[in-house]
Amino acid sequence: MPTDPYAGLEQLYDELGEEGFSALVSSFYRRVRGDDLLAPMYPDDDWDGSQGRLLDFIVGRCGGPPRYVEARGHPRLRMRHARFRLDQAARDRWMEHMGAALGELDTDAHTRARLHAFFDATATFLLNS
Ligand code: HEM
Repeated sequence: MPTDPYAGLEQLYDELGEEGFSALVSSFYRRVRGDDLLAPMYPDDDWDGSQGRLLDFIVGRCGGPPRYVEARGHPRLRMRHARFRLDQAARDRWMEHMGAALGELDTDAHTRARLHAFFDATATFLLNS
């Protein structure tokens, strides 16, 4: 297990493919849409768009096609999350759903743990209240 949660992520797209990431993000969003704390933060008329943006970001970050950067530019995730109240409760809820989605992912424990460490570190970095 690497100590740097951002190290070597670029290899994961080869391993999981578009199908793996797409399944992960669909499973995650299914959970978020039904969540009392998180769902109200998302634009209610653009769930497909939100899901697509997260998918494209993760795919690009993990060595796949750079669709996110092409469409949206530099991620600047802290800036893009500044309008939401990301406190510990919201962060933990987000991670709870991502952890459950990762649990369903068809891969080995090592890859699952690497993705978990990446999401965990990024979610903490985004805390703003
Ligand atoms: C800590 C808990 C988090 C909450 C409550 C949260 C919430 C949100 C919300 C409400 C949006 C707007 C949906 C949209 O219009 O796209 C969003 C966008 C986004 N989030 Fe998060 N997020 C969290 C963590 C993360 C993490 C850990 C990542 C990356 C690993 C991430 C990546 C993104 C991306 C790429 C977008 C689209 C930004 C854009 O291009 O406008 N988020 N998030």
